Amino acid sequence: MSQGAARDSSRPGLFITFEGIDGSGKSTQARRLADTLRAEGRRLRLTREPGGSPGAEEIRALVLEGAADRWSPETEILLFTAARRDHMERVIAPALAAGEVVICDRFSDSTRMYQGLARPDLRDMVDALHRLVIGREPDLTLLVDMDPSLGLERALDRAGGEERFERMGLDWQERMRAGFLDLAREYPDRIAVIDGARDAGEVAADVARIVRERLA
Ligand code: ADP
Ligand code: TYD
Repeated sequence: MSQGAARDSSRPGLFITFEGIDGSGKSTQARRLADTLRAEGRRLRLTREPGGSPGAEEIRALVLEGAADRWSPETEILLFTAARRDHMERVIAPALAAGEVVICDRFSDSTRMYQGLARPDLRDMVDALHRLVIGREPDLTLLVDMDPSLGLERALDRAGGEERFERMGLDWQERMRAGFLDLAREYPDRIAVIDGARDAGEVAADVARIVRERLA
């Protein structure tokens, strides 16, 4: 894929992302939406970031495991963006070009928030790199919003070694939540805010309604 192809606006597929704080239920909702659309006969690709392609999954392990100061903030932005470029080239862009619905658990808004809020002076670097090497936004972003104490409780219940970000604590998650809500106000046409502090089935019904409106 050339940079030009990444910017092509004549693609037929629909690119949907889920965003929100750790433990808000993004993965659960992404899976449920994929099941619902598949049952309706839609061709789709369910994927996630960081990761989603073999090379990007290798970068995921580098960036999510190990000591909190393993990478400088600048290097971390480059790693997340490199992983995204590979994922876009090899998975997302081909699927969209083939007319599929792509559902991605986290995308560029996570970099804007996690890396851009940690070091506000680096937000411009995040946006500049995005324009340079990724070049497109999702068609629809579902922001799963909830009180961070609930999200953290859910996230910490899960086992696993990928804890570089989750162990950053409640204050951090509160800043993240506020940052995501600000982003939703900045991009009201792209980002829909969903109340995630409800039964998973109720959340999924809201998500399905919003997606059907876009697909119609
Ligand atoms: P995320 O991908 O945002 O980190 P997950 O979908 O992995 O969140 O959910 C985190 C944990 O919370 C999981 O154990 C999941 O089963 C549980 N969970 C997800 N959605 C809900 C919900 N609506 N109510 C209660 N528990 C939930
Ligand atoms: P993920 O596996 O989606 O975590 P969770 O299921 O807990 O929401 O993502 C792992 C972590 O990576 C998460 O804490 C957010 C962080 N992250 C960034 O810091 N920058 C990024 O660009 C992305 C995609 C994720």
